[in-house]
Amino acid sequence: MPQIRSMTPKDTQEVSALYRASWERIYGDVVGNQLDAVIASWTLEEFQALGSDNPDLIALVVEESGKIVGASLSRMDERHQAWVDRIHILPEYFGTGLADDLLRATLAKHSGLQTIAVRVLSDNERSLAFYEKHGFKITGREQTGDTFGEVEALTMTRMLSRS
Ligand SMILES: CC(C)(COP(=O)(O)OP(=O)(O)OC[C@H]1O[C@@H](n2cnc3c(N)ncnc32)[C@H](O)[C@@H]1OP(=O)(O)O)[C@@H](O)C(=O)NCCC(=O)NCCS
Repeated sequence: MPQIRSMTPKDTQEVSALYRASWERIYGDVVGNQLDAVIASWTLEEFQALGSDNPDLIALVVEESGKIVGASLSRMDERHQAWVDRIHILPEYFGTGLADDLLRATLAKHSGLQTIAVRVLSDNERSLAFYEKHGFKITGREQTGDTFGEVEALTMTRMLSRS
């Protein structure tokens, strides 16, 4: 039975590998050989913050039989807006409800706030459908910068009080 828990420093390597494989599937064509550098820059801050009890940065993992099969990161920005930065699960768990549980656990960490937002690339259709299913609505659109070339990123937001 999968268990959701806070990420610890000893999970760093396994979570990095999970993110790397997932990002390679989603963005590999766009980011190409810069993937490792991009991943390092995306994960540096959160991995450094692990174990520091920073209440504004919440990293969760899902573990099953000693293996990490999913991970999420959410944070509060300087304007006190909560963001789901990412949720990734192994492909063999797609459609099993595991991501639903991980998202619910992530949202629960931000209870008491009014809204939570997520930024998703517009061509990530599965992810868009996933967040829509969980009550997120599109509240903004922007073109992303250098990393992804000319790709549209959507901001999706939902009320937290309805979870
Ligand atoms: C995003 C993610 C966490 C969602 O978990 P999941 O288990 O795949 O999600 P679910 O199956 O519960 O929900 C996805 C929905 O999209 C639907 N779907 C699947 N492929 C689709 C497509 N190409 N277009 C539209 N909808 C699609 C599914 O039918 C499902 O809807 P349903 O539950 O009503 O049937 C998971 O797919 C993942 O880890 N993806 C890789 C990382 C990623 O993109 N993360 C999000 C950005 S940070």
